[in-house]
Amino acid sequence: MKILVLGATGRTGRLFIHKALEEGHSVTAYVRNPDKARALLGTHPNLTITPGDLNDTERLAAASTGQDVMASLLGQKATVREFLHSTFLQERLPLIMQTVTGAGVKHCVLLSAYGVGDTVRTASLPMRLVCKVIMHGIFTDKVKADALVAEYQPYISRAHPGRLTDKPGRGGVKVFDMASVEHAPGIPTIAREDVADALLTIAKNPQNAGTDFLVTIGDAVLRSPQK
Ligand SMILES: NC(=O)c1ccc[n+]([C@@H]2O[C@H](COP(=O)([O-])OP(=O)(O)OC[C@H]3O[C@@H](n4cnc5c(N)ncnc54)[C@H](OP(=O)(O)O)[C@@H]3O)[C@@H](O)[C@H]2O)c1
Repeated sequence: MKILVLGATGRTGRLFIHKALEEGHSVTAYVRNPDKARALLGTHPNLTITPGDLNDTERLAAASTGQDVMASLLGQKATVREFLHSTFLQERLPLIMQTVTGAGVKHCVLLSAYGVGDTVRTASLPMRLVCKVIMHGIFTDKVKADALVAEYQPYISRAHPGRLTDKPGRGGVKVFDMASVEHAPGIPTIAREDVADALLTIAKNPQNAGTDFLVTIGDAVLRSPQK
């Protein structure tokens, strides 16, 4: 599989790329800082580092051409200001989706977060408080960005993990169609390494396009089939 990665130099992005290369996929890392990318990702025969800004539609379209899937692991700086009010994704995602799908990529895996938008309906009370208070600015940005790209929904799979850590992955990460989830207890927490596994699992199946997924290492209560 040929994978275009945005956010390749991020903490989850790097792990995702290492796993994708380990599995024999070809990866194009589209990055704003190629020196940083080379230092973090090293070299590999199946890895191409392509420099470019996210708003450079010509370069992004060229990097997208011929890819099977795009994975966006972009994230904004976690400053106090961003937590209060962020427009990071609203400013970027519409152009990214227009450009990448316009170049023929029909499966785009977006790293979102558990508690964003409708997923909060399945969250515990403490998790709802975290979403409504601490994460309000960043989650509102994600919701607004998602609304701006609604027309591309059939091409998008969104991954919704809980709080991320840099601990080693535990393995055995679970990926549930959000529509089948009734409740996720507590404040779900997961290693970035496990999230990288889940993203690769989602990316490998083009039929996942159009679906939102809970990504978890813990338990989730699933809806009974008749509901
Ligand atoms: N932290 C949590 O607990 C948590 C929980 C659930 C979901 N998430 C979501 O997971 C995602 C990834 O998180 P992470 O911690 O792996 O991210 P991260 O380490 O902060 O990495 C962010 C990535 O985005 C890139 N980026 C930022 N601004 C950019 C710009 N203007 N142009 C191009 N690239 C840009 C960075 O590139 P540079 O290296 O060039 O800066 C980097 O590759 C985020 O969307 C976050 O909201 C986080």
